[in-house]
Amino acid sequence: MRVLVPGGHGFVGTHVCGALAAAGHEAIAVSRRDGVDLRERAATLDCLRRHRPDAIINCAAHVGSVHHVHRHAATVLHDNMSMALALYGAVGELGRRVRIVNPLSNCSYPGDAELQREAEWWNGAVHESVVASGNVKRMLHVLGQCYALECGIESLSLIAPNAYGPGDALDPDHTHARNGMIIRMLRAKRRGDRTFEIWGTGSPIREWGYVADIARLLVAGLTLPLAEDTLLNLGQRQGFSIRQSAELVAQAVGFRGDIVFNPAYPDGAPQKVLDDRRFRTVFPDFAFTDHRTGIAETVRDYEARL
Ligand SMILES: NC(=O)c1ccc[n+]([C@@H]2O[C@H](COP(=O)([O-])OP(=O)(O)OC[C@H]3O[C@@H](n4cnc5c(N)ncnc54)[C@H](OP(=O)(O)O)[C@@H]3O)[C@@H](O)[C@H]2O)c1
Repeated sequence: MRVLVPGGHGFVGTHVCGALAAAGHEAIAVSRRDGVDLRERAATLDCLRRHRPDAIINCAAHVGSVHHVHRHAATVLHDNMSMALALYGAVGELGRRVRIVNPLSNCSYPGDAELQREAEWWNGAVHESVVASGNVKRMLHVLGQCYALECGIESLSLIAPNAYGPGDALDPDHTHARNGMIIRMLRAKRRGDRTFEIWGTGSPIREWGYVADIARLLVAGLTLPLAEDTLLNLGQRQGFSIRQSAELVAQAVGFRGDIVFNPAYPDGAPQKVLDDRRFRTVFPDFAFTDHRTGIAETVRDYEARL
């Protein structure tokens, strides 16, 4: 298949292009780096006409740390809605029935859902800290539903946990949480710091997805038979407390100082974990990368680049 990957030079997109090549597909990465601003419908349509893809894995987005998306909420919403509308509008105008696979983040779940089940995705508002990025993912799913109804375009919404792994940005405003912890701890080790501070109590449970696993699953989404409900978690129902995560990172980095928690900062929800029942029926044999291996690979990558 010829697969267009909007955002194909980003963190997830780069791994998607690698996974596509490994599976024998042709990957076409596009972003502003290639002169294509995907907020513009005309530019997006022109790009689709030029490349004539069979399918699209949509990795383009204005993303960032929780702090960044909160501070720039209006811009984040505007950019992401513009890209979503431009992509669906252009695919509709193109008139080809290309399948669109949308990676969604788990921040699109209700803010108070501790076990995130697909059937309960709509049962409550997203957390106020992700009002722009969480709601825009919901609208992306709705766009998929509406374009399926009117134009017969197939879409699949695959919900991933917090991604980590090699190849992420170095800028703290744009790295993902576990990668950010790895960067900070590597720097602390190099400075010879005796302590490493983490905000909050360290007790909240969070789920992490190795980016190469997420990429392989997004590629598998190209040929997945579509169920009635096109939402699917890419999770393994395996949470780690922030403390456990920090200890794993410290072992991999070789940081021997003390990890201290600062309870003056809020913890957020006690647990956020994706339910894996539907995933296990769809991908019964999928083997996720072990977290120690994934963290070690990520540390190696940052050691070489920092
Ligand atoms: N990382 C996670 O934890 C995670 C988990 C689940 C789902 N996801 C989803 O996966 C997708 C990709 O995330 P990521 O972490 O890979 O983000 P990323 O590294 O920031 O990549 C985003 C990509 O989008 C492109 N882009 C942004 N604005 C654009 C525009 N106006 N026109 C054209 N291209 C544009 C960027 O390229 P240019 O700057 O060159 O334009 C970049 O290649 C997002 O939808 C995200 O929500 C991520």
